[in-house]
Amino acid sequence: MKTLFVVSGGDAPGINALLGQYTRLAAAGGDTVIGAVGGFPGLLAGDLIPLSLDALIPWMGRGGSILPSSRDPVLSKDDAGPRIQAVIQQHQVDNLVLFGGNGTLRHIPPLLTEWGLRWIGIPTTIDNDVPGTERTLGFDSACNYAYQAIDGAMTTAHALRGRMFMVETLGGFCGNLALAIAQGAGAHAVLLPEFDYDDAWLAARMKAAVEQHGYGLLVLNEEARNAKTLVQTLPEATGIRMRDVRLGHAQRGGVTSHIDRVLAADLAAEAYTALKESSASGTLIVRGGRVALQTGVLPTVKIVPDQTLYNRINGLSS
Ligand code: F6P
Repeated sequence: MKTLFVVSGGDAPGINALLGQYTRLAAAGGDTVIGAVGGFPGLLAGDLIPLSLDALIPWMGRGGSILPSSRDPVLSKDDAGPRIQAVIQQHQVDNLVLFGGNGTLRHIPPLLTEWGLRWIGIPTTIDNDVPGTERTLGFDSACNYAYQAIDGAMTTAHALRGRMFMVETLGGFCGNLALAIAQGAGAHAVLLPEFDYDDAWLAARMKAAVEQHGYGLLVLNEEARNAKTLVQTLPEATGIRMRDVRLGHAQRGGVTSHIDRVLAADLAAEAYTALKESSASGTLIVRGGRVALQTGVLPTVKIVPDQTLYNRINGLSS
């Protein structure tokens, strides 16, 4: 059996671990693994490389993806199907493992099925916003990366009292990542794109935190209202010094956490077994803490962060 790996969309910690785990299983089972260099544009161009365990081992703990990805929507072109089928035939590929987030896993699998390809989708995104799964690969590592930065800022919060700290996470238009980090870090306030807030409330909340605890910690998602200007307006409103930490794409790199490594191993085992022992295509999801194969197309539901938790962190009544 020959499996092709394609990474599409944003990279995430845990992809390299999964590549290594799957390749180990494949080698033991007498199977081979190849990867598309640069997502679907790479596949269309026939840019495929063999993946070996020896080459992957040094990368297994690293975030990001050693196999380059792409966000180019090349599959919408009319000739994409026949071109991909030709590459797949030429390289005698039996099936495909697709890494991606919400958009990738909803839009690309139906095309793969239409083109007669067997596929397994792996939800990989730090945003934890793929419908149907409790957890996406990369989310836990991205939270851990944020804690390192926040813990660092908190040493200054302790040494130099009377300041506010603002930590901006990625997450796009889904607040799940920022909400989880705010809870884990014990933030005084959290701002998300899904829920609006009152400027005067935020200023009062942060001022009270500094007065009561000696510092104020605000965690916010990159798309929350006024995310880019708060670093100036909040000090003006409170009269308190504030510095910002913008985690940016560093959150997608760094070290892969224990939880993501174990999840990668479980996902790799399920993907390999599904491809080797069944004829089903589908997405691997986490339900009740266990990995399972969900056949068919992912549901189109909007993921909304837990508002009760949001209210609790912000000291709002629910
Ligand atoms: O992959 C998800 C994500 O990391 C979001 O959290 C973020 O908003 C987005 O990707 C950034 O995309 P890009 O890398 O294309 O700037």
